[in-house]
Amino acid sequence: FHINDFQHHLVSWFKENQRDLPWRLSKDPYRVWVSEIMLQQTRVDTVIPYYNAFMRQFPTLEALAEAEEDQILKAWEGLGYYSRVRNLQTAVREVVEHYGGVVPDNRKDISSLKGVGPYTAGAVLSIAYGKPEPAVDGNVMRVLSRVLLVEEDIAKPSTRKIFEAILYDLVSKEDPSSFNQGLMELGALICTPTSPGCLLCPVREFCRAYDTGKQNELPIKSKK
Ligand code: ADE
Repeated sequence: FHINDFQHHLVSWFKENQRDLPWRLSKDPYRVWVSEIMLQQTRVDTVIPYYNAFMRQFPTLEALAEAEEDQILKAWEGLGYYSRVRNLQTAVREVVEHYGGVVPDNRKDISSLKGVGPYTAGAVLSIAYGKPEPAVDGNVMRVLSRVLLVEEDIAKPSTRKIFEAILYDLVSKEDPSSFNQGLMELGALICTPTSPGCLLCPVREFCRAYDTGKQNELPIKSKK
């Protein structure tokens, strides 16, 4: 397994094939952060119009920090999981109070913010700040479990840490943003839960699941 070749195949594919999504137009950490919070429990197609409207209404971190609660809840109406936007406002207020309005660029500080878990931290650090940090969600676990033939149960909370450890080595140090988004995009477009499109896959030659015909048996996910 040649890490460098894998990184380059994935990053080149992402640059050529990524969807035009509104949160990919800017590296503003606030904008990236909002998108990742919205995308956590909601599908891309649903998120797009909400994201655009939210950014028009609250274009900056300060605007969101100063907004009234009924305004933010109204802007979120239909997305569900309202604690996400309440926590987000609490967190941007923390950024204004404790970090001079600048979203922290290191894992320890950003993870101290309300509602910012390991995935969101890694996504903002890599996409907005170009830091070589893992951003492990269900899609990323599915892709990596196949490529690397990892047979851990992805329903177990402790499994995320295994993938994070792998990704600290595997993430491109040259372009962490495109690498992490490439994993997400591959999971969304090709390496899908059922009938993955292996014949179109840019990293098929690196994939141990494809090699052994196990792509439909991975990831292993126990029912809880
Ligand atoms: N799902 C989670 N984060 C995403 C992103 N940045 N782009 C597309 N889908 C995503």
